[in-house]
Amino acid sequence: MAVPHQTPGSDSPDSSVLPNIARIRNFWLNGSRHNDDDREMAQRIELCGPHIPYLVRAQRSLVRRQVRHLFASGITQFLDLGSGLPECDYVHHVVQALDPECRVAYVDFDASLEADSKELVADADNTAFVVADCRDVDGVLGHPEVRAVFDPSRPFAVLMTELLLHVPDEADPAGLVASYVDAMPSGSYLAISHFGEDDQVLEGFQIFEGLRFGRFPAVNLRSREQVGKLFDGLDLVAPGVVPVPLWHPEPDDEVLRNPSEVRMYTGLARKN
Ligand SMILES: C[S@@+](CC[C@H](N)C(=O)[O-])C[C@H]1O[C@@H](n2cnc3c(N)ncnc32)[C@H](O)[C@@H]1O
Repeated sequence: MAVPHQTPGSDSPDSSVLPNIARIRNFWLNGSRHNDDDREMAQRIELCGPHIPYLVRAQRSLVRRQVRHLFASGITQFLDLGSGLPECDYVHHVVQALDPECRVAYVDFDASLEADSKELVADADNTAFVVADCRDVDGVLGHPEVRAVFDPSRPFAVLMTELLLHVPDEADPAGLVASYVDAMPSGSYLAISHFGEDDQVLEGFQIFEGLRFGRFPAVNLRSREQVGKLFDGLDLVAPGVVPVPLWHPEPDDEVLRNPSEVRMYTGLARKN
């Protein structure tokens, strides 16, 4: 299941005014960084899959639960890859409420998000947003603004929340994951969440692609088993790879009637 691959680039028409997936997600999260084009596109996508905004909110609650779990496990450094716009209960909001000394680096390769994202983290200490391609592992871990907040020789958590759906099989998502795992010291963690085979999600992305001058990267939906394989060699935290609403649910989470049928999978694992 894939739509054609296109990487955001400076040759696109003014990308700040085109509908943008990170700004559409920000709209569904009740954030402040979206424009008329984003909202119109969001409504079109909702026509394909009325549950899609719920999925985006469910992922945000998941990240909140996972970073709290990580903090309780002793992790104080977080690398959020393919972060989108760091507003609305993002990693630094959650962990720095627990301990302001926690370190957070956000990475996204969409340069049109840079001004907003840097403004959103401007008042937060120990937090950076950098524009970089996650596929360049050394470039990300060695980036001066990442290094200013982050010490990769100490255990850290890598978060891939809907990043790998943009990495087609031929680009070797497992290899990308393995490169980050190799770079992590023992005691580090990896969290992945990933859309599964949901026709309405696929249709929503295809509409987005079609109406948006073909500027959107490839979308690759993966099964629970495929997501599970990405954790090979790591120690999965219980309950393993499960539908997102079932990963350590909390009483204040928004719930759908059949959470076990949500086709969006997650896991959190430790490197020994
Ligand atoms: C579906 S959004 C998810 C945003 C965010 N993680 C969340 O949970 O709302 C995927 C994000 O990954 C970014 N992205 C895709 N491929 C990337 C890459 N190779 N390097 C860095 N960012 C990437 C996109 O620009 C987009 O902002």
